[in-house]
Amino acid sequence: MSLSAAFLDELRARTLLSALIGKTVKLQRAGREFRACCPFHNEKTPSFYVNDEKGFYHCFGCSAHGDAIRWMTDQRGLPFIDAVKELAAAAGMEMPAPDPRAAEEAERADTLHGVMGEAQRWFSEQLDGISGAGARAYLDRRGVSESTRRAFGLGFAPDSRSQLRGALKTAGDPMLVEAGLLISVEGKEPYDRFRDRLMIPIRDPRGRVIAFGGRIIGQGEPKYLNSPDTPLFDKGRTLYNLDKAAPAARKAGRIIVVEGYLDVIALAQVGIGEAVAPLGTALTEAQLERLWRMNDVPILCFDGDSAGQKAAIRAGQRALPLLAPGRSLAFVTLPAGQDPDDLIRAGGVVTVEALLDRPEPLVDRLWRHALEEGELATPEQRAGLRRRLADMAAAIGDADVRQQYQAEFRERFEARFLTRRRDSGPRTGTGGGGRPFIRGFARPASTAARGIGATGIDRVLAKSVAAGLLRFPAEIARHMEALAGLEFHDPAIARLMTALVEVAITDQTLDNGRLSTILATSEYNNVAHELLRADSLPFSFTRRDAEPEKARADLDEAIQVMVSRPEVDAALHAATGRLQARFDDETFAEQQRLLGLRGDVERRLANLMQGGEDGREFEGE
Ligand code: UTP
Ligand code: MN
Repeated sequence: MSLSAAFLDELRARTLLSALIGKTVKLQRAGREFRACCPFHNEKTPSFYVNDEKGFYHCFGCSAHGDAIRWMTDQRGLPFIDAVKELAAAAGMEMPAPDPRAAEEAERADTLHGVMGEAQRWFSEQLDGISGAGARAYLDRRGVSESTRRAFGLGFAPDSRSQLRGALKTAGDPMLVEAGLLISVEGKEPYDRFRDRLMIPIRDPRGRVIAFGGRIIGQGEPKYLNSPDTPLFDKGRTLYNLDKAAPAARKAGRIIVVEGYLDVIALAQVGIGEAVAPLGTALTEAQLERLWRMNDVPILCFDGDSAGQKAAIRAGQRALPLLAPGRSLAFVTLPAGQDPDDLIRAGGVVTVEALLDRPEPLVDRLWRHALEEGELATPEQRAGLRRRLADMAAAIGDADVRQQYQAEFRERFEARFLTRRRDSGPRTGTGGGGRPFIRGFARPASTAARGIGATGIDRVLAKSVAAGLLRFPAEIARHMEALAGLEFHDPAIARLMTALVEVAITDQTLDNGRLSTILATSEYNNVAHELLRADSLPFSFTRRDAEPEKARADLDEAIQVMVSRPEVDAALHAATGRLQARFDDETFAEQQRLLGLRGDVERRLANLMQGGEDGREFEGE
């Protein structure tokens, strides 16, 4: 019997190597890997490593190396086919029926890989050639650099029905049709599928080209034409850029899922290499499993518009049966109508990093979704909410995780609706019956608490405001009180701010000229200079080319946000603390109001960070 490469890949993907090896070898956790004394040679200190993400074991002592199948043949001494059978049984996979043509198919897959590689090289040549001028100009306009083009193997399919067919004619029509490169219609000559399109190669986890996405140059329909499913390409099992993102994800400690090819490419260009994209469809179970092999909590970063949010929720629901202790999803909701590529172009990588910095846990996203799904004014409607929450929790496969969700949803529901019965002391029946713990509210507050001064976004905001004030010194006097009362965590910025306020106190009509003269002779000159030159800050007032009116208005708003955010956070923190100690309706109402305020503040900040045009707002909240 011969087995297809796809079957064996799937088998490896479904086998948790540490569990397999752990049956006979005592493994110790060592960071993201496991360690043991090598079963292949005699040793006293462990140099044998098992890596689940890569699906390989390796011994640094004797160089024993292999995957799950190799383990079964080399360590257990099974013949190849028995090794596969045993692993397939453990993974619950059906063995393919014996097929005399399977060997032939495996060979054919090799040839298909070869054909796809050739096609990719040919498309790239066309991009560099005369006919590629339009596509090159398009990439220039979108800011895709030469080295990014090469790194992603971008190409161009000329506007012709026969050029690719001619260039690859040694492969033969049937092979090119099977590869999805030609379209064959009864009674007609096969013709090139991709015409006048920017060609984006899709690679398998081993880096081999298995399909293409073809984007129209400029406007038109369909925007993307993708390869059909072929023996090499199964859309629902593939993630765009997985081969490059997997090593990057291990380094970065995170994996990001975005919606489009060009989002992945734009992120990589600004140094975020750990992004993948599904291929225009909802995330499948197989894709989720692949993601979890790289990181326990993949971050889904989708458009805030209704289509993007539907996709996010769908992925969340699909993940429920597959959750496990520690294994979850997190969500970043982008401003409506903006994808990561747009955001990078509008505000640079800081804008995206700031959003990625505070992803929403799955439990919060689902809770929010359940609340948004219907009115909650009547008992029936509230019962409906409870049903929706219960149904979601019930879909969780892992018993421990399911119980956690059930408890959490129940607590959030009670905190929100069963307020009156709560003030008469500890409840019973929620695990030990201690004091009511309003985890649902404590959690977002704690993310925000971490955010006060500690995370990138606040540093970026403080830096940006400082840069803005240097540019528009008249604003210092207007906001003197507020600025004087703020605590800046970056000591250099803090000292600069104090100096600015002092200068402004003595000179109420400060302008740029005077300010720079004063700064030039002070110890702040370097910091100030650096701030004015920084062009990666994401606000209008940090950009040289911004319209001054708008920049000043934005600066005003940013200062207000900077002032009110710590205030709101502190009040929220205090209210939540009081509620945890003892529940009362009044504090609860206050806390809810503060949560609303905090949402407003976050939205105001997000709006400021989008490059400043009007009409870009979060949707549906
Ligand atoms: P988008 O329309 O968001 O495209 O579709 P994009 O990636 O932002 O592309 P640009 O920036 O407009 O060039 C998201 C993804 O959905 C799939 C593609 O995989 C695309 O990257 N898609 C979209 C299709 O397969 N076909 C289409 O016609 C449109
Ligand atoms: Mn886009």
